[in-house]
Amino acid sequence: MNAAAENPFGINSKNYPEFMGRCSEHIVRKGKDMADYFTESPEPDKIIYEVYEAESQANMRTALTVLKPGKVGTEYHMTKGHFHEDPEAGEVYFCLKGRGIILMQTRDGRTDEVWLEPGSVACIPPLWAHRTVNVGNYDFVMLAIFPTDSGHDYGTIEKEGFIKRVVEENGVPKVV
Ligand SMILES: [Fe+2]
Repeated sequence: MNAAAENPFGINSKNYPEFMGRCSEHIVRKGKDMADYFTESPEPDKIIYEVYEAESQANMRTALTVLKPGKVGTEYHMTKGHFHEDPEAGEVYFCLKGRGIILMQTRDGRTDEVWLEPGSVACIPPLWAHRTVNVGNYDFVMLAIFPTDSGHDYGTIEKEGFIKRVVEENGVPKVV
């Protein structure tokens, strides 16, 4: 049985707003949605990040995240972060715009990080939780590709947090 073929598309640092326009899902995370994530309390209505997710591409999902520049206290804006429920599901992040860091950690306490700038790609192996942080002065835009049935476990990070944080020290970002 043949399914109808979806249209191919290309995404780059200039045309990504067109991709947003064709997404069926749009999630906005504001300060009030992330009150327990930062060390200090974020302004409730401040937008921290937005996620745009494309319609089905069968067994592969494509999502674009726009992480706004800024800090809460000394801590740079970041995403909530999650593990995948499927222990075999990895993910690839392409940085389209801006400057950021992807923090990763395993359930047994290993940590790692990849610094991203336009053209950089981060490969997240299965079993690593991942969170992105905007350490630049502009929007940090990245495209994520992951298996459709990855599943998202946000609860573990919400409860336990990340071992490492990214803060501004003497005017520069530092992973502590
Ligand atoms: Fe993920």
